[in-house]
Amino acid sequence: MRGIILSGGSGTRLKPLTNITSKQLLPVYNKPMIYYPLNTLLKAGIREIMIIVAPERAGDYLNLLGSGSRFGAKLTYEIQDKPSGLPEAFVIGQNFVDQENVALILGDNLFENDFSKDIKKFKSGAKIFAKKVPDPERSGVVKFDRNKKAEKIVEKPKKWLSDYAIVGFYLYDHRVLEVAKNLKPSTRGETEIVDLHNWYLHRHELEVGIIKGIWHDAGTIESYYEAQILAKKKLHKQLII
Ligand code: G1P
Repeated sequence: MRGIILSGGSGTRLKPLTNITSKQLLPVYNKPMIYYPLNTLLKAGIREIMIIVAPERAGDYLNLLGSGSRFGAKLTYEIQDKPSGLPEAFVIGQNFVDQENVALILGDNLFENDFSKDIKKFKSGAKIFAKKVPDPERSGVVKFDRNKKAEKIVEKPKKWLSDYAIVGFYLYDHRVLEVAKNLKPSTRGETEIVDLHNWYLHRHELEVGIIKGIWHDAGTIESYYEAQILAKKKLHKQLII
């Protein structure tokens, strides 16, 4: 299993903090934000990791993380010239993933959940993860049928669909590379990760797991602030790096 951390973008919602560095390098309590998703991959047993970054911040990432050998990992870096949707990670990561399965984690997502069992069990298709939240409209949302099978997936639905948000950690087989390459941008001008989920859902090859513990997207100023509190109280204790 290969790992990709998507850590590009211009962090517009966190300006002026992001005028000086990347959002995912800002401190969360006592560590740069990216330590949290990197930690999640390492704890899950993934060692070959590609980090996708914005061109003007690439040097900061190299200075901070280097080859990854001190974490027992092999890190490679790729540049995303401008953000054009999460599925672009698989266009950029084409050669890196090749014929392997891949785990994608978003650089601003903080997890308490341990994914190692899911990764060991994963053979093919796609597996995504959901959590019941009070504000599902901020995320991709999954609706379950009576048998707890995923029935419908929508990105940031305007009308309530379900309380289950899709979190920023995803497992796919290598077919995702081809699907991502052929996606068309949505009305907001970017390709959408829910289109990848739906490709697998329509083929009955999508599994949805419910995660335990804290999940936090630190991408807005309010949620960035809350991330500090969650990290101090709990999340920093599980860092192995
Ligand atoms: C992205 C995805 C969304 C997912 C969320 C998790 O949204 O598009 O489906 O639920 O990450 O953090 P963003 O936070 O980039 O707007």
